[in-house]
Amino acid sequence: MTKILEMYKCNICGNFVEVVLPGAGELVCCGQPMERMREQTQGEEMVGEKHVPVISKMENGVEVKVGSIAHPMEDNHYIQFIEVNSLDKRYVKRKYLYPHEEPVLNLKCSCDKVIARELCNIHGLWISEDWSDKDD
Ligand SMILES: [Fe+2]
Repeated sequence: MTKILEMYKCNICGNFVEVVLPGAGELVCCGQPMERMREQTQGEEMVGEKHVPVISKMENGVEVKVGSIAHPMEDNHYIQFIEVNSLDKRYVKRKYLYPHEEPVLNLKCSCDKVIARELCNIHGLWISEDWSDKDD
């Protein structure tokens, strides 16, 4: 049984999917079960700082940056997307990113709190649910 907004990856072909609406079946690709992506919140020294999304409340919404130390955006190592969900999981916004772009997502909203996730092509999926306290 899948759950809404879970992410899965095929370790053979690289297909990467998000569950829009859950079902009872197992997700299979290239003849084998897809791997459920687990969101990371901390890593070894300097890895977490470059990956955990930093959420800041702005005047008209939120800004999400990756991370507290800017993540590289090189041809072979970069953030592939940043996604923001409302806490009630009713709203989703995803921004795809490419090498040499800034790993930032800006969202106009009257959100109270949001969940931010990002995918690094090498270090996997990361999550944050906390406001940064830079404006406090
Ligand atoms: Fe990375």
